Amino acid sequence: MALTKDDKAKLGSEDFDYVAKLVRDKSAIVLEPEKLYLVEARLVPVARREGFDSISELVAKVRGISGGPLREMVVEAMTTNETSFFRDITPFQALKEQVLPELIESRSDKKKLNLWCAASSTGQEPYSIAMTLKDGFPELADWDITFYATDLSLEVLNRGKEGFYSQLEVNRGLPAPMLVKNFTKEGTEWRVKEDLRNMIDFRQLNLIGNWPPMPRFDIVFVRNVLIYFDVDVKRGILENMRQTMASDAFLFLGSAETTLNIAEEFTRVKYDRGSCYRLVA
Ligand SMILES: C[S@@+](CC[C@H](N)C(=O)[O-])C[C@H]1O[C@@H](n2cnc3c(N)ncnc32)[C@H](O)[C@@H]1O
Repeated sequence: MALTKDDKAKLGSEDFDYVAKLVRDKSAIVLEPEKLYLVEARLVPVARREGFDSISELVAKVRGISGGPLREMVVEAMTTNETSFFRDITPFQALKEQVLPELIESRSDKKKLNLWCAASSTGQEPYSIAMTLKDGFPELADWDITFYATDLSLEVLNRGKEGFYSQLEVNRGLPAPMLVKNFTKEGTEWRVKEDLRNMIDFRQLNLIGNWPPMPRFDIVFVRNVLIYFDVDVKRGILENMRQTMASDAFLFLGSAETTLNIAEEFTRVKYDRGSCYRLVA
């Protein structure tokens, strides 16, 4: 009997369990059984793009191979890449009003700053940080600034690196003066200007994998990704973060994330607008 359109987009429970385990092993993202509909919806475009007749055919192929791009595509398809410019605004206010003035003073001898935006998705977050530095602190122009933006997904990293955004995307959170100053219109899209693109080094990094040697960071943003992980994974990542950070560094988490009861070596510091985490002395 021929498969109907609905059948082609359905996954058996054994296949779901396989995909959930694969995704957990490779990314630490936890997919509970009630996420079946989400898994199915995200596998449909992968199956279509890769020429499979149904998502169960796609999973059968993935189950038969070890590694390879198809497995990575399935894992990447399960990542949630929701982001926007200046998302939740207060971290960027704290960055501008407290964190950067403090670091500019404490690092004035070496004139060096190291920043990391982990789980940077399609780039709106690292570009928001870069614009805060560039537009708000012209005195940083002659500083040596290292800025990594990393993510598990190569697809979103490539989008960030290219720096093209739709009108809809720039309408979400990007103030008009910053758009005019830092972007050029190319066809129907807006492209980040080269000087801003050159500030950021986009690299693939799996937060649960082995981290390459990195500089000691002064500022770390790792927002809206720990929520997908269980407590032990969060603890491991925060411990690794601690080891990459300077003793007086600043850590920004998402508004639904905390180090409380997970990583006691961090303490929350509240500012007039926004808050961040710092290492306990
Ligand atoms: C919801 S987005 C958050 C984007 C941005 N930080 C923000 O707050 O707007 C979550 C990002 O985490 C990435 N991600 C998921 N698991 C990851 C892992 N194990 N290692 C690195 N990045 C991961 C996803 O690819 C996705 O781009």
